[in-house]
This record gives sequence, structure tokens and C-alpha cells, in this order.
Amino acid sequence: RGASAFAPASVGNIGVGFDVLGHVIDGPRDIAHVRRIAEREVRIEAIGGAVAGADRLPLAASDNTAGRALQSMCEALSLPFGFALTLEKGIPLGSGLGGSAASCVAALVAANALLDAPLTRAALYPFALDGESVASGARHGDNVAPMLLGGITLSTPEQAIALDVPAWLHAVVVHPDQTLETRRSRAVLGAPYGLGDVVAHSAHLALFLTGLQRGDAALIRAGLRDVLVEPRRAPLIPGFEAVKRAALEHGALGASISGGGPSVFAWFESRAAAERAAPAMRAGFAMAGFDARAYVSPV
Ligand code: HSE
Repeated sequence: RGASAFAPASVGNIGVGFDVLGHVIDGPRDIAHVRRIAEREVRIEAIGGAVAGADRLPLAASDNTAGRALQSMCEALSLPFGFALTLEKGIPLGSGLGGSAASCVAALVAANALLDAPLTRAALYPFALDGESVASGARHGDNVAPMLLGGITLSTPEQAIALDVPAWLHAVVVHPDQTLETRRSRAVLGAPYGLGDVVAHSAHLALFLTGLQRGDAALIRAGLRDVLVEPRRAPLIPGFEAVKRAALEHGALGASISGGGPSVFAWFESRAAAERAAPAMRAGFAMAGFDARAYVSPV
């Protein structure tokens, strides 16, 4: 018996919610094909797909986000069988679009369909966190949670909550032809932060969440400013400042780094505004010498 599932790309952090906020986008996706096997093991049979480097991803299940997520599911449920997995990578590696998370969510959703008593999406969350931690070294749900639940989510290691999203909200996500490994972009965050920065961050996050809940663009605009992570990561992303400036000049509510980068996202009050800004954001990367792809998506 076999099943297939996909998981979409996502914007981890949404700037102001490091490791806790994220949303999915209409864009590239990863696909998992899973079969039930009699042996009590997780076997990765092949990793392919259009993205560069997919053939270099680890085939050892415990070193692979999707393999580790399925192992976690098998252990927690004491399953009397195992899974064979094939992955089709559509989300570029090291892009900041949640590719490692998407592989484990797609694999879990497909495997779940093969259980005698399938679980809810929410119940898959702890297994997805186990898988994601293989890639980044931490248990954060900012990418796996929106992939499992849809829309925007607020996640902690214990729970994932889907948030209400105003229907007018649209994102532009620009992916340049550069890679940045999650571990490297996390390594620059180690030094302590001053209390003033932490207070400013708390205020921004509170404004942002209140704005989302009320559907109030002015509050979202006031809150969508990352004073903690973006200043340390931006120097790792050639072209970032120009892309962000282009977004803001085109009326963005805010713009920042998608996940660990190098992709950049911006939020807009309508699809039309997002579509007007997308070419200018791509041009920001072009000025730094990088081709880039833009995705316009409802949030
Ligand atoms: N929240 C994570 C980070 C997303 O910014 O490092 C990347 O996996």
C-alpha cells in the first residue's frame, strides 16, 4: 500500500516571530511517496526532484528530516511495520523557504494516510518537530506548523495554533540564486541581546499579533519590524537591503528575511499591490548580481 502527499513552501519567523510564527505560500512544494513495508524500519529509497543538490541529501533515515520524522512516528506509536520513502524536492535547498520542513511534513501526511487509524494533523506536530531538528539543531515549529495547519501559525515546542488571517493580506517572497544553510544563519545569533532590544521586540510582536487579530493594517505595519534577528543576518544576504527598500517603496506593510534566508518576504494590503512590488524586489537582487524568482501568494 502506498500514499503520496505534498507540503508547500513557507515563510518562517515572519520577521517579528523568530522560531514561533510562520505562514505557507502558494509556490514550490515537496512531494513524498510512502509505502508500508513489513520490516520495522524507515528506508529512504530515493531523493530526486528539480532542485539542485537534491541528490546529495542524506539517505540514512536518521540523518534526513523526513526519515527522522517517520522514525519518530514509528517509535511513538510502536508501529508493527515500517515505511519506504521517496522524496521529490521542489523547494530549493538552503533557500529559507522551509524545504527541510516540507519534506518531513509531506512524508508524515503520506505515512499517516497508511496508518490503520490515522491521526489528526495536529497530532503529527511533535514528529515533525523531531524531523525538523535534524536540519537546524533546534525544535522550532515555525515552518512545520503552518504546513500542517495552513495559513499563519503560532508555535511553541508544545503546541501549534492556527491564527486568523485577514483575507486581503498578500505576500511577495523573492528567492535569489544564493544558498544559506540554516545552521550558519543561526550561528550569528549567539551573542546576548540588550534589554532595550528585547522590550522593543516584545512591543512589535504584540502590535503585530493584535493587528492580525483585528485585521488592522496600521498595527501590522507598526509591528512588522525585526530588531533582533534581521540586523545580524542581513549581512549574510547580498542584496537584502535593496530588496527590502524596494518592497517598502511599493507600500509593503513590512519586509524581512524568510526563515534563515536568503529569501526575502514582504506583506501587502492587496494582491495588486504585491504584484506591483514583485518585479522591483527581484530587481533589488539583480543589482547585487543575483537572479531571483518571485512568488505572489495569499498569506
Ligand atoms: N526559525 C528558523 C530560523 C527557520 O530562522 O533559524 C529556519 O529553519
